[in-house]
Amino acid sequence: MRPIADQVHLVTGATQGIGKETVRALARLGARVILAARDQARGQAVVEELRADTGNARIELALVDFASFASVRAFLDDVRARVAALDVLVNNAGGYFGRRQQTDDGHEMSFQVNHLGYFMTTLGLFDRLRAAGDARVVCVSSDAHWGGRVDFDDLDRTEGYFGYRAYATSKLMNLLFVAEAARRFPPSLTINAQHPGVVASGFGLGERGVMKAFYLVARPFLRTAAQGADTSVWLSTAPELGAVTGKYFVRRRERSTLADARDPELARRLWTESERLTGMSLPA
Ligand SMILES: NC(=O)c1ccc[n+]([C@@H]2O[C@H](COP(=O)([O-])OP(=O)(O)OC[C@H]3O[C@@H](n4cnc5c(N)ncnc54)[C@H](OP(=O)(O)O)[C@@H]3O)[C@@H](O)[C@H]2O)c1
Repeated sequence: MRPIADQVHLVTGATQGIGKETVRALARLGARVILAARDQARGQAVVEELRADTGNARIELALVDFASFASVRAFLDDVRARVAALDVLVNNAGGYFGRRQQTDDGHEMSFQVNHLGYFMTTLGLFDRLRAAGDARVVCVSSDAHWGGRVDFDDLDRTEGYFGYRAYATSKLMNLLFVAEAARRFPPSLTINAQHPGVVASGFGLGERGVMKAFYLVARPFLRTAAQGADTSVWLSTAPELGAVTGKYFVRRRERSTLADARDPELARRLWTESERLTGMSLPA
């Protein structure tokens, strides 16, 4: 990889929680870091806070709402206009939706935000990642993927919605995406996934019900957001990982995954379906 001071990193979902701590750590290492957020005022406040805390003035804001294809496209145009080469992309933005919500594009929220968001961001910046020479993509998935199951007949979960299953499936899709991308990317571009642990962040707090109750009650016993960010930062920067791709890590250790996450036919099918739904594909 290029010297860290020459590197450009992009972290999505960086207003709070694991993403914010990922930006903090990467900025401390000296990279130029683009922090993606959906709210201008909140995003700019985090930029100012992290600039002051890290002493790195090269932290900047880009706006995106992953629940909108139009917003993601505008975001990709914005980032592409700002950077000729991107060394690290951390796909981190995501959420849990206890009740079924539908985006303006007609998709179930966790499918569009948690999976199609990663897919579009990575494919939309593929040429910028290639231009960096050696580059890395990190996808924040979850051990929740063990509870996922991809149903190609109802990707938008119109029948019998159950929030945990929707979330778990979107995190399984993250692993299928990583596996398929690792097969399709050139060796100079690696892509890996991590589970951050059960982390006291903003996660689950925007919902009513069991998930919120769990994250509130268990809070003192959970990992911190900085601990959750550690494996993302390590995957983004550790020199010994230059040739490692398509793997899943927990606390810096490679871990096994649900058999479905390793099914190449499922991964290929999800990729094809994601191409169709987003109109995006890798250059030939
Ligand atoms: N916390 C855990 O226990 C846990 C466990 C396993 C995996 N994870 C994964 O870790 C990642 C980060 O989660 P976290 O725990 O740090 O949660 P968090 O504190 O709620 O942070 C989530 C981030 O994603 C952003 N985001 C959510 N929906 C978005 C949208 N539609 N468009 C743009 N940005 C959006 C949020 O922005 P706003 O601030 O604007 O809402 C926030 O910056 C997620 O992928 C999650 O699935 C978390």
